[in-house]
Amino acid sequence: MRRTIFAAAHGPISLAFSIAGAILDLRIESLRMRLPNHLGKDEASGLIAGETLAQYELGTLRNFIYLIIDWDAKEAAIVDPQKDMTPLRDLEAHGIRLTKILLTHSHHDHVAGVPELLSTSPNLSVYVHPGDQFRLKKFDPERIKPLADGETVLVGSIEVEVIHSPGHSVGEVCFWVKKDAGYLLTGDVLFIRDCGRTDFETGSDEDLFSTLQRLKKIPDSVAMLPGHHYAIETANLFGAEKMTSPPLLCKTVEELRSLP
Ligand SMILES: [Fe+2]
Repeated sequence: MRRTIFAAAHGPISLAFSIAGAILDLRIESLRMRLPNHLGKDEASGLIAGETLAQYELGTLRNFIYLIIDWDAKEAAIVDPQKDMTPLRDLEAHGIRLTKILLTHSHHDHVAGVPELLSTSPNLSVYVHPGDQFRLKKFDPERIKPLADGETVLVGSIEVEVIHSPGHSVGEVCFWVKKDAGYLLTGDVLFIRDCGRTDFETGSDEDLFSTLQRLKKIPDSVAMLPGHHYAIETANLFGAEKMTSPPLLCKTVEELRSLP
């Protein structure tokens, strides 16, 4: 008798969970479909004429390199360049001038292309948060510009807000590109349904947790673009990440620390 009662109670509850799960899946899928078409794929599509954001996958560690392009001003910035100069050649092919090198942080796989890019023009500078400049001693200090939390960097007329995002590296920043519905370049602090490791020099679980709470305030409609291709997708709508990303769903630093 007890088993019968349990089965009767269990059935409708299971059904309710299934329906809720299906609705959540539909919401996530519909959010993903709102990504700009060239970012809603499983491979980086490089430069597409007229698109503000170009995404490349280059190097041996599945790094994503980004171009932020103002097509009217014919000006661009590159984020976390690799030695492969394909992005620069693509800009040149479209008559666009590279005016800034932006770094999410200074780990070697995010700065590899900086020396070669600096050698292409004496007017180029590297923008990095002061907390991450200690790894850039071999670079000419005259060509390193500090980034501050809340600062707006201009790429042509495109505003890019700097969000200090420690946790993976103490001087890490995210770049919030305020064009179209917005793009958030999250470097190694936040990946699709995952986050950056904290066991490197200057990493911190507490900092990472605080950073994630701040990033959760980014609007759902913004496209999230990570620093590595670790998921199947190359990008996701931030709203979908808020519903599915284990690190973003953690309520405490202990919960974050216990994630596999
Ligand atoms: Fe890193």
